This record gives sequence, structure tokens and C-alpha cells, in this order.
Amino acid sequence: MSAKYYRNLLTQQTRIEAFRAALRRVVRPGDRVLEIGTGVGTFAFFAADAGASRVWAVDGDPIVHVAKSVARRNDYADRIEWIRGWLPDVQLPEPADVVVFEDFPSRLLDTRVFHLLAHLHARYAAPACRFVPAAARFWVAPVSSESLHTEIAPFGPSEQAYGIRWDCVREYVVNAPLQVAIPPDALAALPAPLAELQFATPTNVAALRGRAVWTLERDTAVHGLAYWFDLELAEGITLSNGPGADPGSWGHLFLPCDPPLPVAAGARLIADVGPDVLAGGAPGWLGWTVTAGTAERRGHEFASVPAALADLAAVSPEGTPHLSRRTQIEAVVLHLTDGRRTVASIAAGLRASYPELTPDEALRLVGETLRNRTATPARREDGP
Ligand SMILES: C[S@@+](CC[C@H](N)C(=O)[O-])C[C@H]1O[C@@H](n2cnc3c(N)ncnc32)[C@H](O)[C@@H]1O
Repeated sequence: MSAKYYRNLLTQQTRIEAFRAALRRVVRPGDRVLEIGTGVGTFAFFAADAGASRVWAVDGDPIVHVAKSVARRNDYADRIEWIRGWLPDVQLPEPADVVVFEDFPSRLLDTRVFHLLAHLHARYAAPACRFVPAAARFWVAPVSSESLHTEIAPFGPSEQAYGIRWDCVREYVVNAPLQVAIPPDALAALPAPLAELQFATPTNVAALRGRAVWTLERDTAVHGLAYWFDLELAEGITLSNGPGADPGSWGHLFLPCDPPLPVAAGARLIADVGPDVLAGGAPGWLGWTVTAGTAERRGHEFASVPAALADLAAVSPEGTPHLSRRTQIEAVVLHLTDGRRTVASIAAGLRASYPELTPDEALRLVGETLRNRTATPARREDGP
């Protein structure tokens, strides 16, 4: 990511001030704090200000070098150790008392975050370790908005454009959660709580599936659901991602109902929402069912992914996958990358397997394969 991306994060004042307040509340004098994804170091500085005796500020992105310059300029150098690397590869010399992490997708929990949390629970278990954020609450609300529905169905009910019917494409689109700003006045009822997650304890993904029930006051066309999480950063300090809030990075999701679901005044509207649970307990595709009387709309993210049966068979346990030529080349490059060979010798090794490559092509392919793919060895930045 660019320095401008990280600098722009600093303009998310609501989010940043909330984290600063939470760190003031949670960090005790002498605490050791692990910050995962420090960016330009913002929360590492706040943790140091709050009295931490040691802060491990980790980021896999090279931006951590810029954070180190900021530390030098602002006299934080003695309490913060900058580490370039990715958790869970990075190992700390000692246990942490507080863990700060906030690089979430808009659904909060995907497989990446799930496995990172599992690693953190194994290493830095509660109650000895406190987490910021401490908890998340998932919310859902029915949405009635022609304009949001137009986002997913721009060609109207007939789905005709250029003399061609596109309804097969629409079937995929309406099963995809859409990250979009939902205006608060698009909500057809008050938000209902769905589920809760405590960051310090092992994640039970099945418990994130929940049901909400409303009685609508007037005849309504329900175009979908708004789905989001709020964070409890520390006791009494929350950050909302709901429609109309200004949280910063994560935003909320629109889960379409197509065609729109007509709900009569006084009728009950029921929504069941949550992720599938994969083998091993990780979260899978998001699914939602919206019911009013006998009418029902279902959405499931799996149905939004263009794939042929052959694609699915290739990744099933019985499948026999074949690598593309490009991926075979990448596999050779990764195999030769053993921490001892230079880039030039990896390129020479690649040409031994693929003699048709010119030296320049081999070098380019090595560069492209290794860029952002291989782990930069976790490295403690030396001195201030
Ligand atoms: C959205 S940025 C936030 C940066 C900073 N916390 C802020 O508020 O400005 C998230 C950062 O987390 C880093 N990150 C995400 N997962 C990580 C992991 N497992 N290990 C190290 N860094 C990670 C990314 O590289 C990125 O720089």
C-alpha cells in the first residue's frame, strides 16, 4: 500500500480517537503491547502514551519503515520495537499483555482473520491478555430502497439491454453481498442484534448465525438487508459501522432480496443470516433467508461465484488438480527460494527447467513471483 493510503487513514478521526480512548483505558503502566498491522504507527504511539513499557509494532508492509521515522521524529524510539513481518510468522520474545488488531473485512470474520485469532488465542490467551477491540456485535436491518436495488438490477425486471436478456448474470449478482453506503433512511425497521463475538476467547463461527424478527408498520417492498458489525473497543467505548455512522474503514454490507419481497403492514418479517461453518470451524460463505408469510427470498454467496463444475471438481478432495504453466514456473521459483540462493541463481535454476526462457524473462518471472508473495523474514528494525 502507498504512503498516501496510510496517511489518509489518519483522517478517519472517529475511528482513531476511539482507539486512542480505548488504549488509554486498557493499557496499564508497564504493559507489553502487540499491535498487528501498525501502518504508520498510530496505535503503537497511543499505546506508548498510555504507559506501555514495550510495544511490538508489526506490519508485513514496508510502511513500517515510515512508522519508524515518525517514532524518531517524535521521541518514541525507546519504547517501540518495529517489526517487519506477518503474523503468525512473527514470534515475540515474550508474551503480550494487550493485543491490538483492526484489519477486518466488512463482514469482520473471514478465514484470514479466523486463523489469525486462533493463533493469538494459542499464544496470548485470556485472561492474561486483553484484546482491543474486545468484542463485536453483528446487526441486521431490512432495507427498502429502489436505488440500492437498481445497483444490483440496473436493467429492471426484464433484465434486457442491447436486445439481450441478462437474467443469468443477475442470478449471480443478487447472491453477492455488496459493500455500499446504505443511507439510514433506507432502513425499513430498527436494527436487530444477530450475534456477538468476544475477541479474547476462541471463535465459535456457528454462533455468528442469527435470526431477527420485525413487525413492519406499513406496506413495504424489502430490497435486501443491511448487515454490519459494531466494535466494542473497550468497556463503554464503541465504534459503529451501521448505516449513517462514520467508522472509517470497514463499512457495511447490503444483502439483496430479489425480486423485492412485499411485506404487508403488521406482518412479521424474519431474517436468518450468517456464515457457513467450514471443516475446522472457519467461516465460509455468507447466506441469508428473508421470510414474510409464505414468501421467501434466499441469498447465498456461493451462488455468486462464477465457476464450472470442472473448477469445483478440481479443488474437491477427490479432484486431481493440474497447474497452469505459469503456476508451474512459480512453483519452481518458490522451490528454489531457500533463503540461500540469490535472485540471479534462482533465475538460472529456472532456466535449467525452462530453457526456452531468455535470461531477462527468467529474471522478470522470479521478480513477479516473489513480489508480495514470499515472506520478508520477520525482522526487528535495528535501533531508532
Ligand atoms: C487498514 S491498515 C491499518 C493501519 C493502522 N492500524 C491504522 O489504523 O492506520 C491494516 C494494516 O494491517 C497490516 N496487516 C494485516 N494483517 C497483518 C498480519 N497478519 N501481520 C502483519 N500485518 C498485518 C496490513 O499490512 C496493513 O498495513
